Amino acid sequence: MEKIIVLDFGSQYTQLIARRVREQRVFCEIVPFRVTADDIRRMAPKGIILSGGPASVYSENAPIPPRDIFNLGIPVLGICYGLQLIARLEGGEVDRAAAREFGKAAFTAEDRDDLFRGMPEKFSVWMSHGDHLTAIPGGFVRLGHTPNAGIAAIADRGRRIFGLQFHPEVAHTENGSLILRNFAFGICGCSGQWTPEHFVETSVRKIREQVGAGTVICGLSGGVDSAVTAALVHQAVGDQLFCVFVDTGLMRQNEAEEVQAAFGRFNLRVVQAGRLFLAALAGVTDPEQKRKIIGKTFIDVFEKEAHAIGRTDFLAQGTLYPDVIESVSTWGPSVTIKSHHNVGGLPERLRFKLIEPVRELFKDEVREVGRVLGIPGNLLGRHPFPGPGLAVRILGEITPERIDLIRQADALFIEELKTAGWYDRVWQAFAVLLPSRTVGVMGDERTYEQAAVLRAVTSVDGMTADWARLPYDLLARISNRIINEIRGINRIVYDISSKPPGTIEWE
Ligand code: XMP
Repeated sequence: MEKIIVLDFGSQYTQLIARRVREQRVFCEIVPFRVTADDIRRMAPKGIILSGGPASVYSENAPIPPRDIFNLGIPVLGICYGLQLIARLEGGEVDRAAAREFGKAAFTAEDRDDLFRGMPEKFSVWMSHGDHLTAIPGGFVRLGHTPNAGIAAIADRGRRIFGLQFHPEVAHTENGSLILRNFAFGICGCSGQWTPEHFVETSVRKIREQVGAGTVICGLSGGVDSAVTAALVHQAVGDQLFCVFVDTGLMRQNEAEEVQAAFGRFNLRVVQAGRLFLAALAGVTDPEQKRKIIGKTFIDVFEKEAHAIGRTDFLAQGTLYPDVIESVSTWGPSVTIKSHHNVGGLPERLRFKLIEPVRELFKDEVREVGRVLGIPGNLLGRHPFPGPGLAVRILGEITPERIDLIRQADALFIEELKTAGWYDRVWQAFAVLLPSRTVGVMGDERTYEQAAVLRAVTSVDGMTADWARLPYDLLARISNRIINEIRGINRIVYDISSKPPGTIEWE
């Protein structure tokens, strides 16, 4: 399988590079910069991309790739820090830029033979750098410049090594996708065979081989990742797969019904565990405590179901690529802001072997695969939902009445977003119940009821997010409807914090 690898030097855009390459139907994998030249030879990539990164190539702790990387006969594209690395290792010169450059810059392509083929001479690019090149290494030529970076693109055509000062992977760079395409196809010779159909075909074959005559258990959560995982495994081994859906009583409106409708034809066990979760959460208000209790209760329930099914050899999990690279990233896993308890801990306790068929995919790719597998659109298009469910959207104590209130408010919010055509334009939208009551007036009566928050964010991966600029009229309609139609909520506020410094969820 043809692939391109990205050596990660810690850029915030590393994942984006991989996604943009994959959009060209070329498989792309992120690897830590510390790999050896032998590792790379074994991976046999068609091309290597050196990512950007926050360091300066001359700083003491600058991450440096194996020196041999330029002698493997594999084409290289250095981006930003990657370009500066090429310069440093190949004998060019890098200086603290007189003018640091962040944001848009006007790029002039002086040579449009390969990397910039099919592009106009001038276009807009996205810069984000402190250092820049002041001398081109021997054997290289200049391919372009911007007003503040006299050397913004270089190439050594003989050895097929290219470098860009700007970021082709970000949407603000015009022709960015075409640059990556030119690199992957024109320079590396890829042919773009990596399609969702191809992915399904090869995964199904792999799962069959791995499972043999064994049995697989898979927890469905109502979310996209577990749904696609189950569908892939089912396609591979049919009734050797047993699915378990634990209804925690903390799900969104109709979620349980939709799972049942979509997966009813599988071996599916639905466990009504709402009362159990409620009892375990009684009186608990601390967010991390809630997560721990839900995680533990979930594992207990799941374990019991697994025993009821009988001998199961494998556990299928919907681990995604961002989770995988999080743990192999440049500087090691990032700090835990919130512990994400889904089925963590399950494999250890039950001695399952793991099957993680979508661990190489990004979320949007999982959706594409889901479409190929015939999973209903409403399930695939559903916003992400945290494992602990509504529990972390009810600030303070969790009671059946409060679950009911927030579920209704959430459903109404979502319904209005869908009607207004906004649902698919935001990454996630939901309602949060506040722990305090507020005074209001309805008719001639004083009310003293609960307040809810509406949160809608735009994001590409959930790592960073901005609050969605929903139209005022839409917010007004939603607020009116919730306050009028849902007894017990008398005030609505809209959350205008971004992440960072906020997080998407409130707890
Ligand atoms: P935060 O709130 O950390 O959320 O900005 C980022 C993304 O993760 C989801 N999230 C969770 N998912 N278990 C999960 O499975 C959790 O405990 C959890 N907490 C947050 C959140 O909905 C968003 O998509």
